[in-house]
Amino acid sequence: MPTDITLHMPPPNEKQKLALLEKHRYVGYGGARGGGKSWFVRWKATLLALKFRGIKILITRKTYRELLNNHIVPLLSMLRGIAVYNKSDKCFTFANGSTIWFGYCANDGDLGQYQGAEYDVWFADEAGQFLESWIVAIDACIRGANDFPKRTYFTLNPGGPSHGYFKRLFIDRRYTEEEYAEDYAFIQALVSDNVALMKSQPNYKRSLEKLPPKIREAWLHGSWDVYEGQFFEDFYDRPEHYEDRQWTHVIEPFEIPEGWKIFRSFDWGYNKPFSCGWWAMDYDGVAYRILELYGCTKTPNEGVKWTPPQVFAEIHRIETEHRWLRGRKITGIADPAIWDAETGESIADVAAKHQVFFQPGDHKRIPGWMQMHYRFAFDENGLPMLYVFRNCKAFIRTIPLLQYDDHKPEDLDTDGEDHVADEVRYFCMSRPIKPAHAKIADQYSKTPMAMFLDIPKEDIKSVIRRPGLEIIE
Ligand SMILES: Nc1ncnc2c1ncn2[C@@H]1O[C@H](COP(=O)(O)OP(=O)(O)OP(=O)(O)O)[C@@H](O)[C@H]1O
Ligand SMILES: [Mg+2]
Repeated sequence: MPTDITLHMPPPNEKQKLALLEKHRYVGYGGARGGGKSWFVRWKATLLALKFRGIKILITRKTYRELLNNHIVPLLSMLRGIAVYNKSDKCFTFANGSTIWFGYCANDGDLGQYQGAEYDVWFADEAGQFLESWIVAIDACIRGANDFPKRTYFTLNPGGPSHGYFKRLFIDRRYTEEEYAEDYAFIQALVSDNVALMKSQPNYKRSLEKLPPKIREAWLHGSWDVYEGQFFEDFYDRPEHYEDRQWTHVIEPFEIPEGWKIFRSFDWGYNKPFSCGWWAMDYDGVAYRILELYGCTKTPNEGVKWTPPQVFAEIHRIETEHRWLRGRKITGIADPAIWDAETGESIADVAAKHQVFFQPGDHKRIPGWMQMHYRFAFDENGLPMLYVFRNCKAFIRTIPLLQYDDHKPEDLDTDGEDHVADEVRYFCMSRPIKPAHAKIADQYSKTPMAMFLDIPKEDIKSVIRRPGLEIIE
């Protein structure tokens, strides 16, 4: 005897109600953390499956693990006795023939899953984590000669590789000739709109409030404009504080104590500027950029520029003659690309001939920029973990000019003069620190910060291992 099964739907909050009632071809939902987006995806997919016999629904996330945690596992308990799950097909089948399929996409190769497939409705959960090209390719599968609604729901947080694409469609509402404004609707949901979460876990909102300013603006207030303009807004050059070294990164030079460690960081520019920075590190792990050499490398058609032997001869000269460097052990860190030897001798080989030695730096970009931000952060007394001597003109000139990239929101625009920044990044990655505020650090390890930054969580953890402002070696 079959028994009746009742599916209890908890009451949706006001924003979820609006999203549940939406009928546009493209619906953007969310725009901040914890607004109840994944909950909406699960319930809307189920309601559509129950309403339209035989409808085909697709739910995507970047990885299978995310699908499992956010959707498959919760739906297994929600749909017990209502739909049957087939693990190998990754599909729930309802008694009325409706299906909910799960797909992931973490690289171009994963798009093969969608070739030739047809779905009526697509829920792209955390769609900002997909590349625009993947979104266009999968959206082409939303078709079929039937009367079912054809719809795509994007749930979104600011950030991720397609931040700019979604900002254009749903926030700025600027459309190409192939796109129609009337097809697009956006419903913003903030964590404060998620009544259920605010009641059950009031600390969650507080945890968002403790994040660094830019990420807080994006995740808590749903701001889409945070990744625009100056990349290093946290770098300050305040001449009135050069002497007291508070609330400024640029300071008056001073004599380097004997016991401090010395480093050299290097970025080679092929037909572009090269940048070399010398650093002293005090016993508390505070880094001081003390000297630099910045110049343009030789190009075939231009006048007097530096050749690799000239660059390293000059570095060697400075290291043997300058009183801050003479006779000291210097640890060199460089872009790993200088070991490439496609055209015969590598740049690293040329350097070695001049007794200038390097170890390959870690060139992961976003963790590297985060390390620079962590070092720029002032403590409560206005003291940062990175200072720049007033004589380091290339740093002081180029760092404030760098802009956010339009396409990769957490990265900087590489069209800018970024050679000093790159070389500073290699140095900072060689001596990673954790963020200035212990509470924020704890928060990082608990929130899916790694996902937002599009890097493995382990990479974040590796720089946030210990309390206090210790150097992790
Ligand atoms: N209407 C509701 N009734 C009961 N619980 C809800 C409701 N909406 C959301 N929740 C719960 O609130 C929590 C956060 O919701 P959800 O995971 O859907 O948010 P999200 O916007 O997807 O978050 P994130 O940005 O972290 O992905 C979850 O535990 C979810 O089950
Ligand atoms: Mg979610």
